[in-house]
Amino acid sequence: MHPLLTEIDHVAIAVNDLEAAIAWYEEVFGATVEHREIVESDGVAEALLRVADSYIQLLTPTRKDSPVAKYLEKKGEGLHHVGYRVADCAVALEAVKASGGRVIDDAPRPGSRGTIVAFVHPKTSFGTLIELVEDPN
Ligand code: CO
Repeated sequence: MHPLLTEIDHVAIAVNDLEAAIAWYEEVFGATVEHREIVESDGVAEALLRVADSYIQLLTPTRKDSPVAKYLEKKGEGLHHVGYRVADCAVALEAVKASGGRVIDDAPRPGSRGTIVAFVHPKTSFGTLIELVEDPN
């Protein structure tokens, strides 16, 4: 079987203060923000800082009832999920389902920056929330 995961697309970190987190990465590591977006359906504001061919994705909630707000309340700041790049999100999602795995998104859906994404439940993936990311751009 050829590998379905082709790259680490991003490592997502949940933070309380997005501007402070961006400033820290800029000032300490000289990182630059390549993209910012508010994803209203997920209730998050995100900033993507490029690291080689991958990104650090800083996430903060835009409303109190968003999943990231609940995550911060329960677990505090820190690693939220890992985004793996895939050639075809539907194929990778089907592989998870075919193995009996639990998914959060039953079908691929729009992600930020024009991507197509689906989340895999951490109970299936050994405690880590996984996002499958297809980037058609
Ligand atoms: Co993500």
